[in-house]
Amino acid sequence: MGGRDRDGSISFSTRTSRVMWSRTGLMADGVTHVSEAKEDEKVEDGMWEETFKSHTDSKPNGPSSISLDFSLPGVENVYGIPEHADSLKLKATDGGDPYRLFNLDVFQYEVFNPMALYGAIPVMLSHSAQRTMGIFWLNAAETWVDISSNTAGKTVFGQMLDYVQGSSETPQTDVRWISESGIIDVFIMLGPTPTDVFSQYASLTGTQAFPPLSALAYHQCRWNYNDQEDVAAVDQGFDDHDIPYDFIWLDIEHTDGKRYFTWDPHKFPQPKDMLQGLLDKRRKMVTIVDPHIKVDSSYKIHNEIRSKGFYVKSKDGGDYEGWCWPGNSGYPDFTNPEMRAWWASMFAYDQYEGSMENMYTWNDMNEPSVFNGPEVTMHKDALHGNWENRDLHNLYGFYVQRATAEGLIERSGGVERPFVLARAFFAGSQRYGAVWTGDNAAEWDHLKISIPMCLSLGLVGVSFCGADVGGFFKSPSTELLVRWYQTGAYQPFFRAHAHLDTPRREPWLFGPENTALIREAVRQRYALLPYWYQLFYHAHHSGQPVMRPLWVEYPQDTATFSMDDQFLLGRDLLVHPVTEEGARGVTAYLPGKGEVWFDVHTFQKHNGAQNLYIPVTISSIPVFQRGGSIIPRKARVRRSSSCMEHDPYTLFVALSPKRFAQGELYIDDGHTFNFDKQKQFIHRRFSFANNALSSRNLAPGSQFTTFSWIEKIVILGASKPSKATLKTPDGKESLLEFEFDTSMSVLTLRKPGVNAGLDWTVVLQ
Ligand code: NOJ
Repeated sequence: MGGRDRDGSISFSTRTSRVMWSRTGLMADGVTHVSEAKEDEKVEDGMWEETFKSHTDSKPNGPSSISLDFSLPGVENVYGIPEHADSLKLKATDGGDPYRLFNLDVFQYEVFNPMALYGAIPVMLSHSAQRTMGIFWLNAAETWVDISSNTAGKTVFGQMLDYVQGSSETPQTDVRWISESGIIDVFIMLGPTPTDVFSQYASLTGTQAFPPLSALAYHQCRWNYNDQEDVAAVDQGFDDHDIPYDFIWLDIEHTDGKRYFTWDPHKFPQPKDMLQGLLDKRRKMVTIVDPHIKVDSSYKIHNEIRSKGFYVKSKDGGDYEGWCWPGNSGYPDFTNPEMRAWWASMFAYDQYEGSMENMYTWNDMNEPSVFNGPEVTMHKDALHGNWENRDLHNLYGFYVQRATAEGLIERSGGVERPFVLARAFFAGSQRYGAVWTGDNAAEWDHLKISIPMCLSLGLVGVSFCGADVGGFFKSPSTELLVRWYQTGAYQPFFRAHAHLDTPRREPWLFGPENTALIREAVRQRYALLPYWYQLFYHAHHSGQPVMRPLWVEYPQDTATFSMDDQFLLGRDLLVHPVTEEGARGVTAYLPGKGEVWFDVHTFQKHNGAQNLYIPVTISSIPVFQRGGSIIPRKARVRRSSSCMEHDPYTLFVALSPKRFAQGELYIDDGHTFNFDKQKQFIHRRFSFANNALSSRNLAPGSQFTTFSWIEKIVILGASKPSKATLKTPDGKESLLEFEFDTSMSVLTLRKPGVNAGLDWTVVLQ
């Protein structure tokens, strides 16, 4: 095959020299093309049996690999294929290691590196000012991606020189996918816009699970909160320091000897009392349930899995065993639907003793991690039914998270939305919860890399991503910790976490000034929860990423194509974290010629498209609201997000130069599937045009009642009216009090007092 197109379409060709055996039938759904050749019969070391350190891969089916080359004429920018700790725009790999996709538990990973990490999503996006496309290489075996480009390494000046001298060729990127086994099963998503690619990919693998609202709030974790008293003291600490939080997490030490689904009887003798204490404050807990199971004949979970034959088998047919936290462990075969159904049933309240409805789950180590296995994972010749681990390795973690999420749904009789965090993932994992970037370190580079890592995930469907705030290994300086909170508050999954050996770092342990800074960062998150929730609703509905590279919204602006230091939340908020030690300023790029952006802290207006130098202090990071948008916030921050459920909204209306703005508000009960099954939600459109702001129903047929009302409307870029009148459909009209700040052109309308679910209009005259 072959063929090139100058309009940016993909052509592809198989690498027959690489294709030594094709095993038709593997992953037989949706076969697109299999090429078979036996011409390369030369036997080389490692082809029929391979030794890695003390491990031997028996390769009972012989050597195999498949490969396909794609040529992307007109393309200079490719993205995606997480998980790598690397720049958002993928680098040409000729001359170096390809990007590797093989789920691994990596100890202290390096940044700016194509090495494999915990998760693998074999999806690449290509982008040029003309077109966005995607390639989904559906293969869960170990995979390598080689990228070469005829413009890589050339400076813009060099490219211009080529152009002037007439020697420039069409830019082109070539991509080679190589997988160890399976078949070639490729989906090409033709775009042509980024939005189109997101929905095309969502039609193949599903959309982001819509999380409970509280899961979008702040999570407090460490390895470990030691006992019930510790949990109570940390919980109280948040109240004493007036910092909101929603979830406290228990790591592996809370269990009885690393037997998941159990509690240490001395440290956590009354888990229900503890959970009830949290529930009384409308807070929640997450406990860890890892997929390695202690081989112990007095442990019910192990006995049942063994007797049902649900463990992964080793090549000789016995239960596969490996070393992990509990010592010798078995690995349930999560690819088996019966095993998954059984696992899900273990989350029932009468099975998981001590659990309650405000307790959710963390699946760690689901690559799976096998301490004494090759590269700290499972042997490739271990067997999941008839399939070798080699064939489906990268899917193991996906199925662990899926079974757990299904368990949490079932325990509530199908009513409640689950929350499950997983470390390993594959294409489609977005349907089952959140992921995080694993064991990062308390270093500035790790803070920096959290941005492209989460952006890359968002591009391939996984919106609910975060990095351990503060860094997992080592201890952050207070400045780094504060900067991390300020960044994490604007990333989708917002959880502080720390290694067992690090000193404690709850937010109030660094002196009153730093406590105040962290409090402020967390409060900014809580105030914006209505906007986060609306973004996740859209991610769930249509697969659009929550955290977006700028080029997604400004696809023709080449200045946005390789940005690692700033991002958009939805369309309307632009965030530029401060990730340099001792920074006194940052240069943010505000996109959109003819657009304006408002600094959310000062309300100062700036023009796009420009590079803007913004002086910074330690008190906050630059965040801008797009002129032309309306963002709902809740100004009264309380103990937890559920305490804020009925609180009123403040609308921030940022006017475009043409004095126009639009926004939305989405409200439901925050935790059940009733929004979907019974259409119990409110979805409204706010529009500002012709000096009038109105709220209209976007979802006729939906039904929900809210107690929340609109308490304030802040209009940025406004002019001073002589009066402001609120009109409701019953014909009532009332004059609103207002203030006008001439220096910043900010109009604040006080107490419209109208219910957030109703139609209304405010007319400015
Ligand atoms: C590894 C995880 O990445 C980390 O977050 C966790 O604290 C430890 N395992 C212990 O469970």
